[in-house]
Amino acid sequence: MLERTFCMIKPDGVARGLVDGIKQRIEKSGLKIVKSRDLTVSEEQARKLYAVHKEKPFYSGLVKLITSGPSHAIEIEGENAVSRLRKLMGATDPRQADPGTIRGDYKEDNIYTADGTMKNVIHGSDCTENAKHEAAIFF
Ligand code: RTP
Ligand code: MG
Repeated sequence: MLERTFCMIKPDGVARGLVDGIKQRIEKSGLKIVKSRDLTVSEEQARKLYAVHKEKPFYSGLVKLITSGPSHAIEIEGENAVSRLRKLMGATDPRQADPGTIRGDYKEDNIYTADGTMKNVIHGSDCTENAKHEAAIFF
């Protein structure tokens, strides 16, 4: 099914200069980038993006990390775009992400911030409903 998904290159990825390389990987996989922009995520936007994680122990660190510097938001379109992007991103924990995936290939030696939050370069929506909701926060 032709659908849209949303992703965000997080501050750790932007700071390491990975934006162009990641966008090339997305397009090379056959997905189309329909919108993209640089932005620094505000506290309010972060709380909306991560509302589902509000009760998790890593929530405050997650908000701190995503608001810590410039990010790059991307809206993507393609057949089964949600699952294809998730596959391209790889597992949440970069140490478990396969070679050839974004998180696997761009894994840092130390994947944790000083306060113990996992850095994994990119966020991607997990369903079309969330993709729509998340894209509306940033576009
Ligand atoms: P995302 O939402 O960022 O695309 O990642 P995901 O679906 O693969 O993972 P999710 O469970 O939604 O977690 C959101 C983000 O929280 C951080 N995290 N830290 N310390 C931990 O155990 C832990 N678990 C998750 C990661 O930055 C993850 O991307
Ligand atoms: Mg998620």
